[in-house]
Amino acid sequence: MSSPTRILFVCLGNICRSPLAEALFIHHSEKNGLSGRFEADSAGTSNYHEGEKADSRTRKNAISHGIEITHRSRPFSVSDFEYFDLILAMDSQNLSDILALSTDPDHHQKTSLLLDFLPGSEGKPVPDPWYGGEEGFEQVYNLLDLATRKLLEHLLRNR
Ligand code: 4NP
Repeated sequence: MSSPTRILFVCLGNICRSPLAEALFIHHSEKNGLSGRFEADSAGTSNYHEGEKADSRTRKNAISHGIEITHRSRPFSVSDFEYFDLILAMDSQNLSDILALSTDPDHHQKTSLLLDFLPGSEGKPVPDPWYGGEEGFEQVYNLLDLATRKLLEHLLRNR
């Protein structure tokens, strides 16, 4: 069997958006019987929450949809450019922060916004729910649910 496609989701704190994107992508691939085909992880452009579980509001919202997040926050590392096949940032600040860490065109080529894979939302950010209320977490859940399904479809089509 060929080696799994490795995908890294990146946000600022690695406690709200990217760990949820990771959990949803794994969920959708497992549901489609494809768990061995992909490896997913997430990271933050900061180390503010290193070692912490995902934000309790993110975890509570995910659990209400039947998704458990077990990831612990970790900062993005330049070595992630070598290990992962695809690096997907939640917003343009995350994207420029990652790209600033390397001048290698191969690294830049594998790095983009997650929503570039959601038709009609190319170039758009996944909004940061950290400062807002409960409804923001639900909106982010729905957006990431859709975006990770579309990402999976894209990867299966373009294998
Ligand atoms: P995330 O949200 O980038 O989606 O994990 C944030 C979490 C924490 C902070 C900012 C954004 N913070 O400033 O601590």
